[in-house]
Order: sequence, then structure tokens, then C-alpha cells
Amino acid sequence: MTRAVAPQALGYIGVRAKALDDWASYGAGLLGLQRVDQSRSTIAFRMDDHKQRVAVHADGGEGIGFFGWEVADATSLEALAAHLDNGGIAVAHGSRALADERHVTDLIVLSDPVGNRLEFFHGAQTTTEAFRPGRCISGFRTGPLGLGHVVLNVDRPDTLARLMAFYRDMLGFRLTDYYSEPFIARFLHVNPRHHSLAFIQTGKNAVHHVMMELFSFDDVGLALAEEGRLAVTLGRHTSDFITSFYTCTPSSFMVEYGWARARSTSSTGRLMSAKRARAYGGTTLAVSGG
Ligand SMILES: [Fe+2]
Repeated sequence: MTRAVAPQALGYIGVRAKALDDWASYGAGLLGLQRVDQSRSTIAFRMDDHKQRVAVHADGGEGIGFFGWEVADATSLEALAAHLDNGGIAVAHGSRALADERHVTDLIVLSDPVGNRLEFFHGAQTTTEAFRPGRCISGFRTGPLGLGHVVLNVDRPDTLARLMAFYRDMLGFRLTDYYSEPFIARFLHVNPRHHSLAFIQTGKNAVHHVMMELFSFDDVGLALAEEGRLAVTLGRHTSDFITSFYTCTPSSFMVEYGWARARSTSSTGRLMSAKRARAYGGTTLAVSGG
């Protein structure tokens, strides 16, 4: 009998794009990421001491092409691969070249029940070269909390059930809380961040948004002043207490850009009875992936 080896954090994401130009200005100019590398078809960003947190590939697509989940070490990665194999999940070992491309020591690759490409890795490479944000911000709250959270649209109740069985029961993600109204939602955590992954039932399968958390509320406010892609106005969530706004990325999903004074953590799997997902604000102006 093998055991689930839950990841520790969302370590990196790979974004699909039609063109890189928009991402260069959006990623650095609006989000404040540090552009570190660019080829004809790829652009990479840092958001802390990791060599790479966001990689954008101009493959003509949209959404997120891969999700990088970090596990503790080589032993954990091996145990996870064995556990998935025992559970009948097809797992491929990432090549040396792929590990180098992701700036990690080692990784495995698999698909979730709706075809999202998941990569579980250990040994993210860091650098002593100071993080230099694309605009003047104090930085991103990452570290053991990972790069932020990702929220996925889900089409139907049976798909949601399959995803919950996979992420919670097979992979060991833990339920933080859930909504049944104003929409069906499930929030899962792997560290003290309220959720690193969430599902909202909306009638389709696609990435809804990625959340990046700033150290300072002023960093959020200054981005709001600079915005040109506003999707949801400034508001505060009732679940994770993040005050944030959303912008449309050039890749048909949104980035939530937020800050929180207190960290809301819970492992009780409680039903959130709130009729509203936000304590205030959060007017939707444009729909991107949601
Ligand atoms: Fe969010």
C-alpha cells in the first residue's frame, strides 16, 4: 500500500500564448515580474529567488500548458511516482533536458482527469542574484507558500467529483472549505496558504485565474493605477481575506493581484455559507477564462 505524497507548493507555471510581445509588457510592466530569458518562442519570468516561476511559450495556444508542483525531495518524488503507478495513473519521468529547462533537479509528468499537464518536481534552482522587479514593487509573497494559487473552471458535477478524487484522494491535497452558493467551489490547500488550487463549477473546463500575492498593499494599488486590462475591480474575498483585483492576461485567463494582512488557514473542510464570495467590491468588467 503506497501513500499519497502531497506537494508542498505550486512552484511554477507554463503559460501558452499566441505571441510574446503582449506578455513581455504585461508580465514585467503590469505584474512587476522580472523578465530573465527570451528566445524566439519563449519568455521566462522570476518573481523571487527562484530562477524561473513563469515560462511563456508562444505555441499558438492559450491558458496554462503545465503546472509545476513541488515535493520535498527525491525520496518524495519517487514515492509519489510509485503511488500514482499503483493507482493506475500513467507517469513519465522527465528528461534531463526538461529538468534543465524547468530549472529543477528532477521531475515526473502526468495528466489530471481533464488533461491538464502536471509536473511534480524537487530541487528548484535558486540564485543569489537579487530579484529585480519589472516595476517598482516590494515583491511577491512566495517562499514555502509557493507562487500563489490557481483556480480552474470545471464543466459539470461529475467532472468536479473526478477532479476531487484525483487531487484530494490520490494526491493528498486537503480540502480547506467549499461553497455551494453563489456557485459551487472547492478550495484545496497544501501549505498555510488558504488554497493553492480551487475548482469552480461554471460549465466549461479552462483556467479561471492565477493569484499572485504582493508584500505591500501599495504594490496592488499602484498596479491598479497602471492597469489597462482590468477584468474585476478591487474587492475582498470572504474566504482567504485577500484584497485584490483581476486583469486579463494575453492568454485567455486572469491574474488575481492581491494582498492580505492576515493569513486565513483552515483544514476543516467546512462549508462556507456566505452568499457572496466577496465581502465587498469585485465587479466583473470583462470575462477572461471565467
Ligand atoms: Fe483567487
